[in-house]
Amino acid sequence: MTITDEINVLKEEKNAVILAHYYVNPEIQDIADYIGDSFYLSKVAAGLKEQTIVFCGVSFMGESAKVLNPEKMVLMPDASADCAMAHMVDEDMLKKVRDEYEDLAVVCYINSTASMKALSDVCVTSANAVNIVKALPQKNIFFIPDRNLAHFVAEQVPEKHFVYNEGYCPVHEKISVEEIKKAEKKYPSALILSHPECPKEILEISDYIGSTTGIIKYAGKSENKEFIICTENGVRYKLEQDYPEKKFYFTETEPVCKDMKTITLEKVLHVLETGENEVHVTDTLREGSRKPLERMLELTK
Ligand code: 13P
Ligand code: SF4
Repeated sequence: MTITDEINVLKEEKNAVILAHYYVNPEIQDIADYIGDSFYLSKVAAGLKEQTIVFCGVSFMGESAKVLNPEKMVLMPDASADCAMAHMVDEDMLKKVRDEYEDLAVVCYINSTASMKALSDVCVTSANAVNIVKALPQKNIFFIPDRNLAHFVAEQVPEKHFVYNEGYCPVHEKISVEEIKKAEKKYPSALILSHPECPKEILEISDYIGSTTGIIKYAGKSENKEFIICTENGVRYKLEQDYPEKKFYFTETEPVCKDMKTITLEKVLHVLETGENEVHVTDTLREGSRKPLERMLELTK
């Protein structure tokens, strides 16, 4: 039996389902029952029938799945896979901003800890942040933790006043304009497709800005045949699978999220066999963080 066969047998036995983000390695995407961006995965996680969820992603993803499914077992193939940006919020600053502004909504990117979600009014992902912020009744928006996504949303929703937090994704932050220009020189007819976690100067030279699913869909619909992709290199697998007639290029220093890449087939098999790395969230934290997550799902219907 191959390791994939073993995983499939155990999945049946344990009534388990495998969710994976586009940034994980191709062999993990191959065994997943659902692959997608953060929004798609949280929507899927909210409506699963299986008793065990194996989440091939980073800790905030498993945590959100557990919050939405308190009665289920959520397993992380690698318990140390984490998102650095999720921790880039200062609770004291959050309290200060709440005290300072009366008509305020704290908008929390899903890439955050459950404790930060619990202090927020609504969660968003890169796929729905603009529409959710537009729909909020409050004039003032404190957007945590990502400053780049916050600036992108602020440009699309000029009627709101934004207060910024200094968080960022170390992977998208490192994508350089110089390297994009170099790629453009080499592939002059390529369009630049970027994730809104990229810094402003990259978004300014992009032809399209969207979530990982947005980027994949745009590349499919576009008449263009070549693209420079400014996000984590895991999306290449789906892009090349779905559009073999098109060409996808990355910057010379390919953006890699090391945490997403720590997940291996062996680790997936191991957690299915042992039930190790189960996600636990306290009742208080679950109650607090469930509301903004459910509000996000409600507002995106
Ligand atoms: P999306 O899944 O919303 O595209 O975000 C990318 C990301 O960084 C996930 O951690
Ligand atoms: Fe976090 Fe960036 Fe990795 Fe996404 S790519 S999980 S935002 S560190």
